[in-house]
Amino acid sequence: MQRICIVATGGTIAGKGAAPRQTASYRAGALGITELCAAVPGLEAEADITVEQFASIDSKDADPDFWQALAVRLQAVLDDSDIDGVVITHGTDTLEETAYYLHLTLKTAKPVVLTGAMRPATALSADGPINLLNAVTVAAHPGARGRGVLVAMNHAVFGAREVAKLDTLRPDAFGAPNTGPQGLVHDGRITWLAASDRAHTMDTRFSPATPLARVDILAAYAGFPIDAIQAARAAGARGLVWAGTGNSTASQAVEAELASVAAAGLAVVRASRVNCGMLVPTESAPGQIWTDSLSPWKARILLMLSIGSRLSRPEIQSVFASY
Ligand code: SIN
Repeated sequence: MQRICIVATGGTIAGKGAAPRQTASYRAGALGITELCAAVPGLEAEADITVEQFASIDSKDADPDFWQALAVRLQAVLDDSDIDGVVITHGTDTLEETAYYLHLTLKTAKPVVLTGAMRPATALSADGPINLLNAVTVAAHPGARGRGVLVAMNHAVFGAREVAKLDTLRPDAFGAPNTGPQGLVHDGRITWLAASDRAHTMDTRFSPATPLARVDILAAYAGFPIDAIQAARAAGARGLVWAGTGNSTASQAVEAELASVAAAGLAVVRASRVNCGMLVPTESAPGQIWTDSLSPWKARILLMLSIGSRLSRPEIQSVFASY
C-alpha cells in the first residue's frame, strides 16, 4: 500500500452550511480533516493514510506567506522516506495559484495532488468525499510520479500550470482551457493523458526558500486610467503583469506608460484577460516580457519568484518560455 499524507488547509471541502440545500452560503474551513476522512467510505482501503491539519482558512485569505509556509511543510513531508505522496485539501477560489506556486518550488518527484469541493460538506450531494477519494487514488498511482503538482476535481486530473476555475458554483468548475485534463479517474481506475512538457518541481531554479517579490496585476478595461500604473509602482511593486485585452493589447496611452516604466527598470509581463489561447509578442511592447499561455495570476507567481531570484530580464524571458 502506498503511504499518503493528507494535508488539510480548509476551503469549501471543509465547509459547513445551515441547511443541506445551501450550496452557496456556508462557512469554509469549519470541519477538520479527521471528520472529512470519516465521510469517505473506502478511503483506508485506497492507501495507508496519515493526516495533518495545516490550516483552516477560506482560500481567498491565502497569501504569499501562506504559500511559502505550506511549501516548507510539504517539502518536509515529501522528504520523509515513509511517505509516498501527498494530497492537499484546499479552497477552490485560489487553488490554481497555490498549485502553481507549489509546482514551481517543491523539490520532489513524488505525487502531489490538490483537491477541494464546490459544495460544502453539509450539502446534499456534496462533492468533497468523491474528490478526496479520487485525489488519494491519483496520489497513490505510479503514473502520477514526476508530473509535478496535479489537481483532482470532478473525476478529472489537471496539471497545475494549465488548471483554472471556470465556473463560480457548479461542481464541474475546473478545466484546463488550452490542454484539457492530464487524466480521468472513475471507480478507482485512472486513464492518463498527455503530460505537460514545461519545467516544474525538480527542474526549476526555485524552491520554498526563494523570496517572493511584490508583483501587481493590472487588468485592461475601456478607459483604463494610466495613473494606476504609477500608483502600483509607488506602492512598492517591483513587477507588473498587464492582463491585456486579446493578444495582450493596451490602449495607446497605457502602451506608452508600460513602455516608459519598463525602460525605467520595472519588470513588465504581458498576459491576457482572455482565459484561453496563446500570445504572440508584438513590437508595440519594447523591453517587456511575454507569457505564451500563462494566466495573469500564474504569470504573477512566476514573476514574483523570478524577481525574488534576482534574474535579469533575458533570464526572466527564458524562464517564461520554458516553465
Ligand atoms: C475557498 O476557496 O476557500 C472557498 C470556496 C471553495 O472552496 O470553493
